[in-house]
Amino acid sequence: MSGPVVRLAGVEKSFGAARILRDITLEFAPGEVHALIGENGAGKSSLGKIVGGYYGADRGTVDILGVRLERPTPRHALQLGVAMIHQELQLVPQLSVAQNVFLGLETNVAGLLRGSENQRFTELDRRCGFGLDPRRTLGDLSIAERQKVEIMRAIARDARVIIMDEPTSSLTADEAERLHKVIAWLRDEGRTIIYVTHFLDHVLAVCDRVTVMRDGCIVRTGPIAKETKRSLVEAMLGESAEVAYPALPPAPDPTLPPRLSVRNASTEAGIADVSIDIRPGEIVGLVGLVGSGRSEVARAIFGADPLTSGTVALDDKAIVNLSPKRAVRAGIAFIPEDRRKQGLVLTQRTRPNMSLPHLAAISRFGLLDIAEERRRTRAMIAHFGIVPAASDGEVAYYSGGNQQKVLLSKWAYGTPQVVLLDEPSRGVDIGARRRIHDFIVELAQSGVAVLLISSELEEVLNLSHRSYLMSRGAIVGEIASASASVDQVLFRLFNVETQQPGEAAASPAYPE
Ligand SMILES: Nc1ncnc2c1ncn2[C@@H]1O[C@H](COP(=O)(O)OP(=O)(O)OP(=O)(O)O)[C@@H](O)[C@H]1O
Ligand SMILES: [Mg+2]
Repeated sequence: MSGPVVRLAGVEKSFGAARILRDITLEFAPGEVHALIGENGAGKSSLGKIVGGYYGADRGTVDILGVRLERPTPRHALQLGVAMIHQELQLVPQLSVAQNVFLGLETNVAGLLRGSENQRFTELDRRCGFGLDPRRTLGDLSIAERQKVEIMRAIARDARVIIMDEPTSSLTADEAERLHKVIAWLRDEGRTIIYVTHFLDHVLAVCDRVTVMRDGCIVRTGPIAKETKRSLVEAMLGESAEVAYPALPPAPDPTLPPRLSVRNASTEAGIADVSIDIRPGEIVGLVGLVGSGRSEVARAIFGADPLTSGTVALDDKAIVNLSPKRAVRAGIAFIPEDRRKQGLVLTQRTRPNMSLPHLAAISRFGLLDIAEERRRTRAMIAHFGIVPAASDGEVAYYSGGNQQKVLLSKWAYGTPQVVLLDEPSRGVDIGARRRIHDFIVELAQSGVAVLLISSELEEVLNLSHRSYLMSRGAIVGEIASASASVDQVLFRLFNVETQQPGEAAASPAYPE
C-alpha cells in the first residue's frame, strides 16, 4: 500500500478557552514508527486521542486508510484500524489477563470454545514473547505487566495503527528493549506505531520519523536520522538546554544516628528481613529489577502493606501499629508509583488535592485557614510550573506530567522528616524532571531523609549518596552511588537474579 494510513488536516481542538491543538496537519505512513514528543501539556496525548477516536476535533479532518473518521468514537476508529494504548492504563482489574486481551471482541469470539481462546492467547503471547499467564487476575499484575496486556489487546484487534502513549514509562531498561523488539516486528508487518514518549534515547533508537510538538502546534516533522538528543530537546523547549543532574549536598557524617531505620521488616507482599538506615540529609537509592520488591519496601515503611515482622523507627523511636495515617503523623511522606490509583483524588481540584494531608497544619483553632491554603497552593504551582496554573483546575483532565507535579506538591506542602519517592520523574518532561531533581536535592539540604526508587539507574546513581541493591524482596548489597557505573550495577543485578536464592549474599557477583 502506498499513501498515508492516517492523515490529519487542519485539526483544531479547544477545551473551554484553552486551545489544545492548533492547525495540525500531519501524515503517518504504513510501516513506520513515528515518535511524538514535546513537553508536558504540549498536546501529545490529545492528538493521539483524536486519531484514536476518543476526542472529536473542533475543526479539520481525520482520515484513516482513506476513510474519514466521521463519528469520533474509539469503536469507529478501531473499525477503521486504529487502537490506542493509554498513558493511564484502562483495563478491567477484576477480569483475567486473557479476558482483558479479548474484551470487546465478543462479536468475533462468540461461540468459540474457551480452549480456542486460550490457544489464541498462547499464540499471541508467543509472538510477543511476554510470557503472561492468561488466567491471572489483572488487578494482581504489576504496572509493567498490565502494559503488556494493553499491547496484546491492540494486536488482538489487528490494528493497522497502534498509538502507544508512554508505553515504557513503567518498564525496566530490559523490558523496554523487549517492547522495542515487538515494535520492530509490528513495523515489519507493515503496521504503523505512533510512539509518544519522554525518553529521547528510545526515540533515537527505535523510531523512523519524529514529530515535535510545542503548545499545541507542530514544531517539525522529519526523519530521525537528522536529529540528535540536543536538537530534539531544543525543538521541544524552543531554546538550548543542558541535560544534567544537580550537584548533591555532601553526604552526612556516617557517625550521625539515622533519621529512619527499618529493622528486619517483612511483609506478605514479599519483602523479607529488610533493614535500611537513612540519615538526615541523606539520599538513599533502592535499585533492583522490576519485581525485586523496591516499591514494596516503600509501601512497608509507609504502613501501606502491614509488617508481619520487624520495625520502622524515626529517630530511634519505633512507630507502633504502623499505618499510613501514623506514618504521615510521624513525618513520613510517600509519593507512590501508580499516581492514578494511589496518589490523587481525580474528582477533586488542584487545591484540595495538595492540602488534603495537611489540613491540620493549615488550620487555626480547628478552622481551615483558606487564605493560607491558597497561598501555599499558588506557591507550589509556581515552584513546579504546573499547567494549568489555576488552583481550582480539574486534576482529572491534566496531562500525565502535570498530574505527577500535583502529586509531588502534595507532599512538598507539609514538612516531612522522611520522603519516600517511587519513580518521581516518570512521565514528566525534561524541564519538570530537572525541577524534581532540584526538589530532591533541596529536601536533602533541609535535613530530610530521602529514599529514591527509579527504574532509571542513571537517575538513582546520580541523585543518591548510597544505594541498596535488591533482589527477590531482600537487600543483597550496598554501593556508593557516585563510584558505581550503570553497567556495573546492571551486571551485578542480573547475576544476582540468575543465582539460586540464598546463594546471592554469599558470593559477590562481580569484582569490586
Ligand atoms: N478533557 C480535557 N479537558 C480539559 N483540558 C484537557 C483535557 N484533556 C487535555 N486537556 C489539557 O490539554 C493540554 C494538553 O494535554 P495533553 O494530555 O495532550 O498533553 P501531553 O503532551 O500528553 O502532556 P504529558 O507529557 O504531560 O502527558 C493540557 O493542558 C491538558 O490540561
Ligand atoms: Mg500525555
